[in-house]
Amino acid sequence: MATSRNATLLVVDDEEIMREILEALLTREGYDVRLASTGEEGLALARALPFDAAIVDIMMPGIDGIATLDELKRIDEDLAVIIITAFASVGSAISAMKAGAFDYITKPFKNEEVLVVVRNALERRRLVHENRNLRQNIQERYYKFGNIIGKSPRMRQVFDLIIQAAPSRSTILVQGESGTGKELVARAIHANSSRAEKPFVTVASGSLAPELLESTLFGHVTGAFPGAVLPRKGLLDQADRGTLFFDEIGNVPLETQAKLLRVIQDRDFTRLGGVESIKVDVRIIAATNLDLKQLMDEGRFREDLFYRLHVISIEMPPLRDRKDDIPLLARHFLAKYGEENRKADLELTPEALDVLTQYAWPGNVRELENVIERAAVLTPGPRIGVELIPDQVRKPPAFHAPSFVMPPEGISFKDVITDFEKRLIESTLETAGGVQKRAAELLHIKPTTLNEMIKRYDIRPRRRRQSPDGEGA
Ligand SMILES: Nc1ncnc2c1ncn2[C@@H]1O[C@H](COP(=O)(O)OP(=O)(O)OP(=O)(O)O)[C@@H](O)[C@H]1O
Ligand SMILES: [Mg+2]
Repeated sequence: MATSRNATLLVVDDEEIMREILEALLTREGYDVRLASTGEEGLALARALPFDAAIVDIMMPGIDGIATLDELKRIDEDLAVIIITAFASVGSAISAMKAGAFDYITKPFKNEEVLVVVRNALERRRLVHENRNLRQNIQERYYKFGNIIGKSPRMRQVFDLIIQAAPSRSTILVQGESGTGKELVARAIHANSSRAEKPFVTVASGSLAPELLESTLFGHVTGAFPGAVLPRKGLLDQADRGTLFFDEIGNVPLETQAKLLRVIQDRDFTRLGGVESIKVDVRIIAATNLDLKQLMDEGRFREDLFYRLHVISIEMPPLRDRKDDIPLLARHFLAKYGEENRKADLELTPEALDVLTQYAWPGNVRELENVIERAAVLTPGPRIGVELIPDQVRKPPAFHAPSFVMPPEGISFKDVITDFEKRLIESTLETAGGVQKRAAELLHIKPTTLNEMIKRYDIRPRRRRQSPDGEGA
């Protein structure tokens, strides 16, 4: 609500003397006052002008105070309505409160009493508006946080974590499958931190050779290695006072991990071939699509670094786990690529949207974005139908159930089912890279159920099928 403008009050009273008293009193206080002598007149004013509060006499010929109050609330549900009652009829004051009045004043009243009630009413009005705006902002933010689109509960959790974690200097680990938006999240954290004006520097640890990684990161001194004729600064220097985004941290060799730990703990580092320790103030955000815990168990990731990184961990949900975001994302990308290709008002047919929602999206949001981009480029008109959706999305690879040859003597139903179950689980575990949780998802069963079956059938990871003589059992 604008504070520069005087609050506007509506006074509805059939007694002329009351209108005059209230008008004088409230105008003197700096309020804009409009007068009405009947309920009808008051309602007509309320329909025409925005009011901040209304004072309504309860006893009036024609539409009485309560009915006027009712209708005023219908016109503007936030309007604070103050009812004036005769001292004798507190009962009617109570019914007015029940009908949604903000407060009531009994006649005869003291001036100060009226002013206090009016001030309270306006304050309440202000708070209601403030809260409403706040809620609206949050809602908008929840559909879109920076460039991150999503409204599913899982994405809201991600937004909340970003908001909470961004201001600190804590190291953050962003985990999730490829294409789930890990880099977007890292950028959003940086943009919402006090480092926003400073650089955001990405270390593509996945695509750098291990020897190159260290010199790229720390820089080197002259003669550090053959060919190092001139000293060079590294990405850490570039990122000073900003954020260093370590992409694919799971690929960083153990030696470099130790040096990284030092950067996080002691905030300094040494150049390749150098001795001097250099101070640096960076916030590190690491991302990975590997299971760091598993790497740690296999001795390929330092435990101390893992726990350092894991202080705050953000888990990006795969797109198949938040299908309610698919229409929203699709619309977002349609607008983006529509604009890029100068095609206005692109939309998906319901069938096309249906196909997109059914698909499992192994490549997550990136894959969805590519599919929409392709369709936006190829479509001749504004409506995009299923024919513009690639085959693999439209017809996901079918599951091939085995075919059976029945031996003449018949076969034990129970044995066949058991054998089939066992092989299905083994093959799914293989597809899921040995991760039981993922395998359970693929089979649409609970992880506990899968685990029970694994135990029951004595399935071991990557175990060869049992030999007939029982060896290896
Ligand atoms: N929630 C989202 N809203 C809008 N765009 C998204 C969202 N998530 C991902 N994208 C888009 O999908 C693409 C992939 O996102 P990003 O690079 O952040 O994924 P990633 O998790 O880092 O993937 P990778 O592990 O393969 O590096 C980008 O073009 C990004 O803009
Ligand atoms: Mg990435």
